[in-house]
Amino acid sequence: MEKLNTTVGHPMPLTFDLGICLEDFWLQCALALLIGVAMGLVLWLVRMFILGPMYRKPNRIDGKVVIVTGCNTGIGKETVLELARRGAKIYMACRDPVRCEAARIEIMDRTQNQQLFNRSLDLGSLESVRNFVARFKAEETRLDILINNAGVMACPRTLTADGYEQQLGVNHLGHFLLTYLLLDRLKQAAPSRIVVVTSLAHLFGRINREDLMGERNYRSLLGAYTQSKLANVMFTRKLAMMLMGTGVTVNCCHPGLVRTDLYRHFVAPRWFLNTLSVLSLYFFKTPRAGAQTQLYLALDPALANCTGCLYADCVRCPLVPRARDVATTDWLWRESEKLVGLSPAKRHATNITMWSDA
Ligand SMILES: NC(=O)c1ccc[n+]([C@@H]2O[C@H](COP(=O)([O-])OP(=O)(O)OC[C@H]3O[C@@H](n4cnc5c(N)ncnc54)[C@H](OP(=O)(O)O)[C@@H]3O)[C@@H](O)[C@H]2O)c1
Ligand SMILES: *[C@@H]1O[C@H](CO)[C@@H](O)[C@H](O)[C@H]1NC(C)=O
Ligand SMILES: *[C@@H]1O[C@H](CO)[C@@H](O)[C@H](O)[C@H]1NC(C)=O
Ligand SMILES: *[C@@H]1O[C@H](CO)[C@@H](O)[C@H](O)[C@H]1NC(C)=O
Repeated sequence: MEKLNTTVGHPMPLTFDLGICLEDFWLQCALALLIGVAMGLVLWLVRMFILGPMYRKPNRIDGKVVIVTGCNTGIGKETVLELARRGAKIYMACRDPVRCEAARIEIMDRTQNQQLFNRSLDLGSLESVRNFVARFKAEETRLDILINNAGVMACPRTLTADGYEQQLGVNHLGHFLLTYLLLDRLKQAAPSRIVVVTSLAHLFGRINREDLMGERNYRSLLGAYTQSKLANVMFTRKLAMMLMGTGVTVNCCHPGLVRTDLYRHFVAPRWFLNTLSVLSLYFFKTPRAGAQTQLYLALDPALANCTGCLYADCVRCPLVPRARDVATTDWLWRESEKLVGLSPAKRHATNITMWSDA
């Protein structure tokens, strides 16, 4: 203190005092450490917020029959992993048999669940969908959980085997036919569940009645993809109505922004993609975190009577008017029936009454 007093009036201490400098040094260290810890804590809290809630109820589903589409990678693979841990019998429906088998073996190793099966399903081919269902029906009389997870995003304009625009064809039409053909098995197993993986991107979507296949004007992301994800929401709503009272529920979810192969079709300069890839390590969910909402919809006993809803981060979300538009929903349903080759007669054979028929 004495030393300090002597410096009053001088711009700098004239004499060098090691003691004070050291004191200063440790003070600054402590301060830096404190700031570091605080920043770390904030970064960690934000990261936890980005990852979102985990489904933590311990309920098992031993022996329940499950189908997950597109599960050789990404969110679908994590979904299978968790359901396998909980004892489910799972049919992994993938388009690439080799990658499907690799994922199956990995998950069997990690969970010791032997009840996992590889099955070929290309949602871009209606014939493949029918073949998949025929084989499944020959093997199983019940289906407890169907998870429509597979998806493509922002690909260049290509066509499915049946000549439909790829994103609508795979994300919506393929799953439309698949679900439709499996309804009897789902009813057989009631209470049973259908989970549709959509996206927040549906908010920017519009069902383009005049140009459903993007023949005249194709926009890969904010056109075809958003339309297909809006179709997922409308499909969920319509089907939920149709299945009222059957014990089969249908809900859809937005998994979050997830670090997966979904972004494989993005075209941008290399530096941009590299930067995005690095940033996504922190700002995107891990596939495991991304799988939580669909796991919640598939598993949580509290949702037994919940149907026709949209969830994100395990929280129910309100639907925007465009997603609740009944006229467009009905139109899309009938159009989809035509496009996948289901006649209205077939519909009556499965004994479903349309909500608009009533
Ligand atoms: N990642 C995100 O940020 C995000 C955000 C919102 C919504 N979603 C939705 O989450 C779902 C899962 O996506 P992801 O992020 O896990 O992407 P992903 O890693 O690319 O996985 C997509 C899966 O779908 C499969 N698939 C693609 N086309 C198919 C076809 N014609 N027939 C059968 N399977 C096909 C893929 O198989 P291949 O590996 O053989 O191509 C892959 O297994 C998608 O519906 C997506 O729209 C994701
Ligand atoms: C699928 O699994 C069976 C065993 O269930 C295996 O024999 C077959 O080789 C697998 N298919 C592929 C393409 O690896
Ligand atoms: C679902 O509804 C049935 C019949 O109304 C009721 O018995 C059951 O407790 C409900 N389950 C849940 C989880 O709300
Ligand atoms: C079809 O639905 C009607 C009315 O809901 C019901 O009475 C009938 O038993 C059902 N038929 C079949 C084959 O499920």
